[in-house]
Amino acid sequence: MAALRCLFPVLSALFVLSALSGFFASTSSSSVASSSSKSLIVSSSAAASPSPSFAYYISGLRGDGPRLVRLLLAVYHPRNRYLLHLASDASDRERMDLARAVRSRVPASRAFGNVDVLGKPNAATNMGSSVLASVHHATAVMLRLDGGWDWLVTLSAADYPMVSQDDIHAFSSAPREINFIDHTSNIGWKDYHRVQLIVVDPGIYLARRAQIFHATERRPTTESFKFFSGSPWVILSRPFIEFCILGWDNLPRTLLLYFANALIPEESYFHSVACNSHDFQNTTLNSDLRYMVWDNPPQMEPHFLNVSDHDNMVHTGAPFARQFHMDDPVLEKIDREILRRGYNQVVPGGWCTGDGRPWFDPCSKWGDPNLVKPGPRAEKLKELVKKLLEERDSQSGWCK
Ligand SMILES: *[C@@H]1O[C@H](CO)[C@@H](O)[C@H](O)[C@H]1NC(C)=O
Ligand SMILES: *[C@@H]1O[C@H](CO)[C@@H](O)[C@H](O)[C@H]1NC(C)=O
Repeated sequence: MAALRCLFPVLSALFVLSALSGFFASTSSSSVASSSSKSLIVSSSAAASPSPSFAYYISGLRGDGPRLVRLLLAVYHPRNRYLLHLASDASDRERMDLARAVRSRVPASRAFGNVDVLGKPNAATNMGSSVLASVHHATAVMLRLDGGWDWLVTLSAADYPMVSQDDIHAFSSAPREINFIDHTSNIGWKDYHRVQLIVVDPGIYLARRAQIFHATERRPTTESFKFFSGSPWVILSRPFIEFCILGWDNLPRTLLLYFANALIPEESYFHSVACNSHDFQNTTLNSDLRYMVWDNPPQMEPHFLNVSDHDNMVHTGAPFARQFHMDDPVLEKIDREILRRGYNQVVPGGWCTGDGRPWFDPCSKWGDPNLVKPGPRAEKLKELVKKLLEERDSQSGWCK
């Protein structure tokens, strides 16, 4: 019974896609069976290949369906796993449309069965504990769906990649236990405005959308653990996710309860868990690998990027950038010049075997998904990861 209850989100996640796809009997039901027996669903040869595999959790709000599809096309690779989420302010119809669009626009996803739309959505908030609940839900579903990925990447509808998935191969030079978490314990103004603040998020217990409310009392700065804070956007290793979701050390749970009353827990939760854990504090690389431009002092969200930011964006070597307006012209420039992605097509890679006729999608036919052909951006990314690793090693101890 307990196992059945656990499987429910997985089943409902699969349901949306498979109800439409007509291969429920063949692919998806075997996905359910294999996820419960904890074997691999995607690419059984993944273990033999040195190139890593990523689990992407891509989340959006009502009306974000088309952006999620575009972003999926830009980050799709058969070796990865994708979970798309339209928050509870979107209708089930939008969710069905999204699943249908994925099915028709990414033909490979039907064969590889590696894209799911979360059937049971979470609250549409960008603050409070419901955000954390949402990320925990996604990571638990990802663990259940697929045993093969190395890193979990969180993206929103306003994000975009700056490298192809074959370039991401450059990650094979990074130890698999590394967590990319931008963090500091030097929290300054945040101590009064964030750490001491006690809030209650109605997203957890009300069906309708309601304002977060603030307690009049403040709580003292934490003593039983050290508070770390940084970018809410993270790339987390599989061992660390397992520690947070399945582990028997109580630190992740204690901190989860603490952060239930924090205003923006996703800026601090994984940061504080990793840095207060004996086993994981040495696995943190102090970067979120995103290109963002902030006001000084920083506002809640970074600038919207446009074509004026293009050159700087490319120069950093960061694999992702945020945030963008829907269909901003700079996205087209990135598609054309960096990703070499045709209109309405996925980013071509070593796995695509279609011929090179104009207007013909090279990825409408495919071969070995483990064949990767990194481009020039891979070198930049490799340099960036190497620099971060060196920076880390030159400091005595991390999590400062
Ligand atoms: C890009 O955005 C900045 C502000 O963030 C603005 O100053 C600039 O004019 C914009 N460039 C274009 C080409 O729209
Ligand atoms: C973490 O790194 C520091 C400094 O290099 C070292 O002293 C410590 O023993 C390491 N901790 C673990 C658990 O490896």
